[in-house]
Amino acid sequence: MSSATKTQVGIIGGGPSGLLLSQLLHLRGIETIVLEKHSREYVLGRIRAGVLEHGFAALMREAQAGDRMDREGQIHEGFYIAHDGIRQRVDLKALTGGNTVIVYGQTELTRDLYEGRDRLGGVVIHNAEDVQPHDIDTSRPYVTYRQGDETARIDCNFVIGCDGFHGVSRQSIPKDGIRTFERVYPFGWLGVLSRARPVSPELIYAKHERGFALCSLRSPTLSRYYIQVPLTDTVDDWSDEQFFDELRRRLPGDVSEAMITGPSIEKSIAPLRSFVVEPMRYGNLFLAGDAAHIVPPTGARGLNSAASDIYYLYHALVDHYTKRDDSGLENYSRRALTRVWKGQRFSWWMTTLLHRFPDNSPFDQRLQETDLAYLFSSQRALASLAENYVGLPF
Ligand code: FAD
Ligand code: DHB
Repeated sequence: MSSATKTQVGIIGGGPSGLLLSQLLHLRGIETIVLEKHSREYVLGRIRAGVLEHGFAALMREAQAGDRMDREGQIHEGFYIAHDGIRQRVDLKALTGGNTVIVYGQTELTRDLYEGRDRLGGVVIHNAEDVQPHDIDTSRPYVTYRQGDETARIDCNFVIGCDGFHGVSRQSIPKDGIRTFERVYPFGWLGVLSRARPVSPELIYAKHERGFALCSLRSPTLSRYYIQVPLTDTVDDWSDEQFFDELRRRLPGDVSEAMITGPSIEKSIAPLRSFVVEPMRYGNLFLAGDAAHIVPPTGARGLNSAASDIYYLYHALVDHYTKRDDSGLENYSRRALTRVWKGQRFSWWMTTLLHRFPDNSPFDQRLQETDLAYLFSSQRALASLAENYVGLPF
């Protein structure tokens, strides 16, 4: 059995990028269909980002999906960097002339976007298998997929690849049509979501000779903690007790003593990688979010970089449909990449500053220590960190 449908914009991937774009375009009268490989429960079971820029928050409001974020998200005016047994605060608000970030989980944000799609009657097709874009270098691209025994075809004007790092969109571009840039780090982050009061109301990024650690949170009763682990480790290598023992060792004494531990609700390991594909367009296929670029999570840039892609693409598509102006589409890749690379630089720098690199020479270690000492000796260096962390303008 097979069926065929038409839409204006076919979106592959029902993560935050795809849902946000779909919701924004719908509100401007542009039709979309989102094809998601997994079930909604599966997508909402992933625990990922937690820190949002205000530019992202503004897009969520424009998408009519920001009410709960505004009610339940926490405004953070600063965070700490811990090292050598002490904690030093980065006062984001003072250093940026008033800017802050919002702590609100990606899981909740994705839930809000799904609710927004349901409310407006948006089409999101779950469990879409073997999704494949076709004829992307022509003016009549289409996407095929399978659901059980049914195959289906969606004809559209544009295909948007929002299907994350392992998705099919980027892979459907001929090898000579794109160039990739990549760095793989020799470690991962083991993350635990725990039902316990967070140890600190503000995030703590900790540099320690045993490895990096991060204390984050989702709510007054939900903590999110990470530790740097070797790539060879698996989740089964770490019991809750071992995790919290190791986390405590990497934090200043007063923080470790204040730590309350609770049952872990989720535990996962994410490898760290920097990756960019250029250009972010091939014919009428446009890539956005993790489908086009990945950062190591240290600077909390990943989801925020996805949001800036969506901002540019949304405006470009609206201009195409409402003004017959294609300059936004023509310039999409260049504009998006300009900001993407700044996020790459910042994430690489934060990662390099705070992690233990197994192959570092004594010279590399001294440079790392000096980088940190310089940061806290210079208001200008701190201001540079702060302006990147709260998000550069779109
Ligand atoms: P994804 O969220 O990966 O969504 C892609 C969707 O496409 C998925 O639902 C997937 O199922 C679907 N898909 C895949 N293949 C196919 C296919 N063939 N057909 C159809 N659908 C497909 N970022 C931040 O900004 N701040 C943070 O604090 C932060 N912390 C992080 C912590 C961790 C541990 C991790 C792993 C990431 C973190 N990130 C953070 C990064 C952030 O989670 C990602 O950048 C974000 O998920 C990107 O969204 P996306 O929609 O582009 O891709
Ligand atoms: C979280 C993740 C990050 O990568 C980060 O830099 C800050 C917070 C989090 O999951 O809470």
